[in-house]
Amino acid sequence: MKKLIVGNWKMYPIRAKDAHERFLAIRKTALKLRNVQTVVCPPFVYLGSLSKVAKGHRCTLGAQNAWTEPEGAYTGEVSPLMLKSLDIGHVIIGHSERRALGETDELVRKKILSVIRAGLTAIVCVGERERDPDGNYLKLIGAQVTSAFQGISKKELGNMVIAYEPIWAIGKNALRAASPDDALEVSILIRKTLSELYGQVGFGIPLLYGGSVDALNAKDFLMKSQVQGLLVGRASLDPEVFGAVLQSADKLK
Ligand code: PGA
Repeated sequence: MKKLIVGNWKMYPIRAKDAHERFLAIRKTALKLRNVQTVVCPPFVYLGSLSKVAKGHRCTLGAQNAWTEPEGAYTGEVSPLMLKSLDIGHVIIGHSERRALGETDELVRKKILSVIRAGLTAIVCVGERERDPDGNYLKLIGAQVTSAFQGISKKELGNMVIAYEPIWAIGKNALRAASPDDALEVSILIRKTLSELYGQVGFGIPLLYGGSVDALNAKDFLMKSQVQGLLVGRASLDPEVFGAVLQSADKLK
């Protein structure tokens, strides 16, 4: 199975021209790789124009969010069907930065349903704010996963991806980098939760790791954490660094 490497550009870069240049540079590397599927998630405003140059399967576009309804009077929101009309394949849902703005498990669940019912793949983010010695973080992550899959049938599992992102390991102000073992512990928990919900087919849902992934640690997470891909923030904005992440993933079969 190909590794799924997703770049989350967050609210960068400021200029459309810059977004185009970066995307084209990433695409150039990504198109050469056989074992990697690259998905770049720029801000919404750039998706329309980037979709004109993002043809093919190896390097596609994703969105960072979507609304719960296909259309309607929802000022400022973007629906999954609009994304679909641009051939966008993936949508990040429930990123911790959105949950910090007030997105609840309930809203995340509705967004997931609207995304997958539009035929797109939801990349659902889960993760704890901190690790307590009693292991309550594992319960929290288990509950996030269970809530995310409520109402989703076995048939729809092919449109689901889970990204584990420990919030304490994300971004410039990360407390510390997570280790591949930290990620492995949670991969096992997520797998267990999914197999309790869906039995054997639960094992087919791809897991990603995210949180301060860079060119130096990407390979370790992919090899040691039982994940099928990565969700990359800062490092995905630099085509050279992201290119190196993609290449190191491509070398692993
Ligand atoms: P980071 O962000 O790679 O900059 O830590 C990851 C994310 O928030 O998806």
